Amino acid sequence: MKTEFFPWKEEYSVKVKEIDDQHKVLIKLLNKLYDAFMKKEHSTIIGDIIQELTDYASYHFGTEEKYFKRFNYKESEKHLSEHKIFTEKVNEFKKEYEKNKSALTFTIINFLRDWLKNHILISDKKYSDFFAQNGIK
Ligand SMILES: [Fe+2]
Repeated sequence: MKTEFFPWKEEYSVKVKEIDDQHKVLIKLLNKLYDAFMKKEHSTIIGDIIQELTDYASYHFGTEEKYFKRFNYKESEKHLSEHKIFTEKVNEFKKEYEKNKSALTFTIINFLRDWLKNHILISDKKYSDFFAQNGIK
């Protein structure tokens, strides 16, 4: 079995299956992007994966934000600003990529991995107990 660029680890679990499953999809999409990049796939394919990743990230953020609101999560403001920064960054990458197909580099792929990893391990972990206490599974 080949080594994945960003393998899922149990330590990423926030103990809420719905959110873990979504995080797994995001990680899977990032791995797909990495593989396509390595294989020098056609720019349309790479562009499509970036789009898929962006769309899914905003859907996922929506899920988290829905629960923050519903249960009045105290740290939501800081968390939301992280989502916003991510979205803005990715939109920038997308624009650059549309203009220049060789603009997608490891810097971007590494940024996505590091952001996801840190966000899950630090910011998402913070709501783990709170979500569980409110019965979100
Ligand atoms: Fe989040």
